[in-house]
Amino acid sequence: MDDLDKIQEKALKDIEKAADEGALKSLKIEYLGRKGRLTKILRELKNIAAGERVSIGEKANLLRQKLEENFSKKEKLLKARTKKTVLSEEKIDITLPGKKMLVGHLHPLTKIRNEAEEIFTAFGFAIAEGPEMETEHYNFDALNIPADHPARQMQDTFWIKNPKTKEKFLLRTHTSPVQIRYMEYHQPPIRIIAPGRVFRYEATDATHETQFYQLEGLMVDKKTNLANLKAIIKIFLREFFGGKNIEIRFRPSYFPFVKPGVEVDMKFNGKWMEIAGAGMVHPKVLEGVKLDSRVYQGFAFGVGLDRIAMMKYKIPDVRFFYANDIRFLKQF
Ligand code: DAH
Repeated sequence: MDDLDKIQEKALKDIEKAADEGALKSLKIEYLGRKGRLTKILRELKNIAAGERVSIGEKANLLRQKLEENFSKKEKLLKARTKKTVLSEEKIDITLPGKKMLVGHLHPLTKIRNEAEEIFTAFGFAIAEGPEMETEHYNFDALNIPADHPARQMQDTFWIKNPKTKEKFLLRTHTSPVQIRYMEYHQPPIRIIAPGRVFRYEATDATHETQFYQLEGLMVDKKTNLANLKAIIKIFLREFFGGKNIEIRFRPSYFPFVKPGVEVDMKFNGKWMEIAGAGMVHPKVLEGVKLDSRVYQGFAFGVGLDRIAMMKYKIPDVRFFYANDIRFLKQF
C-alpha cells in the first residue's frame, strides 16, 4: 500500500514536469509499460495473501486508471503546444516584399521590325524572306550589278567559299536580292516587304556596323509609279514616328537596279536625314525575272532599320544594338 502511495506521488509530479512528448512517452513506459513500476505490482498480486490482495488490487487498478488519465491529459496539452509553435514558426509574413523576377523582352530591333511589319501588312503588303548567305547572282548580277561594276566596291562583301566544290557564296550586303527571289515565283500585282539582316565588311563606328537590318519594299503592277512610292514611304514614316507631320524629300541618286533612283530624306530635329534608297525597278531587272517591262512597272525601296530606330529612340551609337549590354537593352 505504501509503495502505491509513493508511486502515485512521484508519477503525478513526473507527469507534471514532463517538458515534451518524448519525455512523456518514456515516463509512460517507466510506470505503465510491460516492465513498468505499477505493472510489476499488479503482476505480483498473485503472490499476496488473499486477504490483502483485493484491497491492494483495487487500489492498484484505480491508480493505473488515474495515471492513464493524467498521461493522456498531459499528452493533449503537449500536442497542442507543439502545434502552436509549429504554426507560429511556419507563419508567412505576406507583408514582406517578394523576390523580384527578371523578365526578358524582345530586342529593340525586333520590336522595330515588328512595328514596321504591322504598318505594312495593314496596307496589304506580304512579308517575304531570303537567305542571309546568298549567291553572287542574287546579291549582284540579277540586280544589274555586274562584276566590273563600281557599285560592287561600294558594298564591301564577306565572301564565303566552299573549300571542296570551290562554290562561292557571300553574306548578303542588302535585302534587295529578296526582290529577285520573290519575282521569280510570283506574278504581279506584287506588294511585299522583306525585312532582314545584312552584312558589310567594313570598319565600325557610331553609324556603321558589320551587320545591320534593312527593310526592303517592292510593289509591281501595271501602273505603279513614283507618286505611289512617295505616299507609301510617307505613310510608313508617319505611323512609325507616331502620327506626327512628317516632311520627306526625294533626291536624285543612283542604284543600278532602279531607274530613276532616289534617296529619301526625312526632316528630323530640323535636319535632313537620309533614311532610304529607292526608285523605279530597272527594266533590266524586270526582264531578268521574265516580266515584260513594257507591261509592268514598279517601285522598290530599302530602309535602314537601325537608322530609323536610332532616330526614334535617340540612340547615339549603332553598336549598342549588338553589344548585348543589359543596361542598354532593358531601357526598351
Ligand atoms: N540596296 C540598297 C543598299 O543597300 C538600298 C536600296 C536602294 C534598295 C534603292 C532599293 C532601292 O530597293 O530601290 O544600299
